Amino acid sequence: MSAAVVLLAAGSGTRVGAGVNKVLLPVAGAPVLVHALRSALAVGEVDHLVVVVRPGDEAEVADAVAPVLLEHPDHADREVRVTVGGATRHASERAALRALEAEVDDGSIDVVALHDAARPLAAPVLYDAVLAAAREHGGAVPAYPVTGLVRRDGGPVPGAGRGSRTVAVQTPQAFRADVLLAAHRWAEETGFTGTDTASCVAAWAGRPGHGGPDVEVVAVPSDATNLKVTWPGDVRVAEHLIRP
Ligand code: CTP
Ligand code: MG
Repeated sequence: MSAAVVLLAAGSGTRVGAGVNKVLLPVAGAPVLVHALRSALAVGEVDHLVVVVRPGDEAEVADAVAPVLLEHPDHADREVRVTVGGATRHASERAALRALEAEVDDGSIDVVALHDAARPLAAPVLYDAVLAAAREHGGAVPAYPVTGLVRRDGGPVPGAGRGSRTVAVQTPQAFRADVLLAAHRWAEETGFTGTDTASCVAAWAGRPGHGGPDVEVVAVPSDATNLKVTWPGDVRVAEHLIRP
């Protein structure tokens, strides 16, 4: 039994507006996705890694990944596959699962963590926590309480006060591999598109005959330092957090 990690890097980073895919932007001396890859490689039980890239980014990503595998002797036996993603994050998840499908079906991969390559600061212990919780419950997501006043569409949200029950959900999100694949196969058949992996698994698990009591997506405590590079200012914050 082993764990797999999927790094989702097939977006385009339009909100950062850098002209290149934000996952390839240099931060603290290395592209954003290289920081994400180093964290994933530091998770002891992860044997299989898939980096999902935008068409046209394959060569640049492969060039960024290759030296990372030489940084540590433990990295040498890790397999990192680069595969092309889709038009949505959901489609990119599906593309990654296609690359892992045989090992999931034959049982050699039992859990999969899916992570936004745009989050360069996910700690290996956070991977450990979501992988362990996924094995126990079926799925796990990192989350932390949102503080301050939350507004939607520019207007006040009735009942959503300061630091209410609203939580921010992050990645890596981990799932038992059979659950994840069943959810994605169901989504493909029905045309469902999830905003994140947990939404797909939850939608599948909520349908009669699926999931069952042994599939629950639980929250694992996290915090705001596991930031996603989304806006130009996030690049500067990430730089400060990564550089000691
Ligand atoms: N992603 C992906 N495939 C897509 C869209 C997004 O793999 N078709 C990945 C991104 O590369 C990113 C993560 O999903 O690591 C989270 O998405 P987001 O922050 O929205 O990234 P982008 O879509 O690249 O950014 P933007 O929405 O600003 O264009
Ligand atoms: Mg996007």
